[in-house]
Amino acid sequence: MVNILPIASGKGGVGKSAIAVNLAILLAQKGKKVVLMDFDLGGANLHTLLGLKNNHTGLGNFIYKQETSFAPLLQETGVPNLQFIAGDCLFPGTPNMSFFIKRKMVKEIEALDADYAILDLGGGTTYNTLDFYLLTYNSILVTSPELTSILNAYSFLKSAAYRFLIRQFKAKSPERSMIDNYINNSTAGAESSFVALVDEICRQYPSSGEKARQELQKYRPQVILNMGKSTQDLEMARRLRSLVWNKLNIAMDFVGFTPKDNAIEMAVATRRPIAVSNPQNPFVVHLNSAADRILLHTYQFNEKLEDSEFFGNNENQDIEELLRNSF
Ligand SMILES: Nc1ncnc2c1ncn2[C@@H]1O[C@H](COP(=O)(O)OP(=O)(O)O)[C@@H](O)[C@H]1O
Ligand SMILES: [Mg+2]
Repeated sequence: MVNILPIASGKGGVGKSAIAVNLAILLAQKGKKVVLMDFDLGGANLHTLLGLKNNHTGLGNFIYKQETSFAPLLQETGVPNLQFIAGDCLFPGTPNMSFFIKRKMVKEIEALDADYAILDLGGGTTYNTLDFYLLTYNSILVTSPELTSILNAYSFLKSAAYRFLIRQFKAKSPERSMIDNYINNSTAGAESSFVALVDEICRQYPSSGEKARQELQKYRPQVILNMGKSTQDLEMARRLRSLVWNKLNIAMDFVGFTPKDNAIEMAVATRRPIAVSNPQNPFVVHLNSAADRILLHTYQFNEKLEDSEFFGNNENQDIEELLRNSF
């Protein structure tokens, strides 16, 4: 079975692609079969970070129906266990993806011969991004400690929560129109309350409402705080966590704090991923711990292994402890 790991962020430039490439390499080095995919359609650049040429068929060829499966899109990367599917760099412009194409893409992802499919998503909250982001309960969200980035991460999760809720109900159902009305009637400035909306759905439609609420409780994003500079970042992480819990009733797991490091820019310039060229680099070392936590969460989620068989029982690390170990 393929574990899908979508990676998103509220805004661009926080290091999503750097995390995606290096996380893919680290998981591959741990013996997992990984396929990394560039879903930043319209801004595909992952091939550059991997040092690959922009001349291979990619997702664009699938979207524009020149290919009917993902098999011809797969490229070797030079890293054992890691294959790559490029974006749409041969097709400039953001593609319009029909519902059918999206559904076919999901089927192709699920059919990949891999342990992990990592999706580097574009920034922002288009339906395409949100739908791919919501392919799993434990998607990854990357943010930097800057206030704007934290607020954008919150907005992203809020949009994802609404999208998640809507998708629990059938098209044209009364529950859906209730959500639509709620969103359309909430005026700018007066923030709509997601929690109040869920309560109201449960009051009016107890059985479908409670089912949706239970699904929502399984939704548990894994957050990586990238470009960390100091222990003060702790405060920003705390703020994000309490904002998301108070306003959306969604719990999140901080799985990693990766430091700001100029070597990342250098790695881009030399087109050699830092996880390959410098495994001792602090960014790589901390991302490697994040990779271990992500593996553990996958196992917990699939209930294939008891925690203790895998890592010992030290996983309920709090933000404080994670950060203390990071700087
Ligand atoms: N931890 C880090 N330290 C220093 N620079 C970083 C770090 N992570 C990413 N960068 C740099 O920040 C820029 C944006 O990163 P990128 O991965 O392209 O972001 P995104 O995919 O979110 O738009 C790139 O120049 C990248 O090299
Ligand atoms: Mg990117």
